[in-house]
Amino acid sequence: MSIHISAKKGEIAKVVLQPGDPLRAKYIAENFLENPKLVSQTRGILFYTGTYKGKEITVGASGMGFPSIGIYSFELFTEYEVETIIRIGTCGGYSSEVALFDLLNVENAASESTYAKYAWEFEQEILPSQGNIHNIINETAEELGLKIKQSNIHSSDIFYRKDPSVPAIAKKYNCPAVEMEAFGLFANALHLGKNAATILTVSDIIPTKEFISANERETALKPMIELALEAAWKVS
Ligand code: HPA
Repeated sequence: MSIHISAKKGEIAKVVLQPGDPLRAKYIAENFLENPKLVSQTRGILFYTGTYKGKEITVGASGMGFPSIGIYSFELFTEYEVETIIRIGTCGGYSSEVALFDLLNVENAASESTYAKYAWEFEQEILPSQGNIHNIINETAEELGLKIKQSNIHSSDIFYRKDPSVPAIAKKYNCPAVEMEAFGLFANALHLGKNAATILTVSDIIPTKEFISANERETALKPMIELALEAAWKVS
C-alpha cells in the first residue's frame, strides 16, 4: 500500500503497462491478461495484475499529465519494486509528417515543464527513454511485423492554448507530435535508475482536426497493446 495505490506488497508485477485512461487499463486486463485481479482502485485509477503467456504483468493507469504520472510511476518504482514501466498512450500530430494510427516509439521527450527541474534538479529540457526497453520494443515490433517510427515527442503541460502554431520546443527538437506524460515518466526513471519507455498511437492530427473516433479506438490501439505486452513478457 502506498499513498495513492492500495495494492498490497507483492500484488504488483515487476513490469507495468501504463495507459493514461483507467478504463483502458480495465479493457486491456480483461481482454489480454489471464486471471486479471483488480489490485487497486483508489481515486478510480485502476490497477490489474494477471499473467500474459504465463508471466505476471500489471496494467494500471497513469492519469493525465506530469503530476499524475509523476505520482503513480514514483510509487510503483519505490514502493512496489517495479523495474520497468511501458507507457502506452495516444498523441496528437503537429503535421502530416505523422498519420492517424501511426505507432511511435519515443526516443526522447522534450518539454517546457519544470517537473524534472523541481523534482530532481535535472536541467535538461529533453530526456531519453530509460534502459534497454526501448530497444526491446523495436526488436519485438520487427518480430511482429509491425511498423514503428522512432520519434522525439513534445511532452506538454498544455492541451488547450491561444496560439495554434507548433510550439517552439517541438520545432527545436523535431517533435512531430504531442502528449502529456513521457517526460515525467522518463525523469522519474532516470532519477531512480529504472527502465521506462513510451509507445504512442497517433489519435488526432491537430491542424486538420482529424481524429480516431471512440468506436475505432479499441481496434486502433490493439497493435500497440500487443506490442507492449510482448515486450513486457521478455523483461518479466
Ligand atoms: N495534445 C496533447 N496530448 C494529446 C493529444 C493532443 O492533441 N492527443 C492525444 N494526446
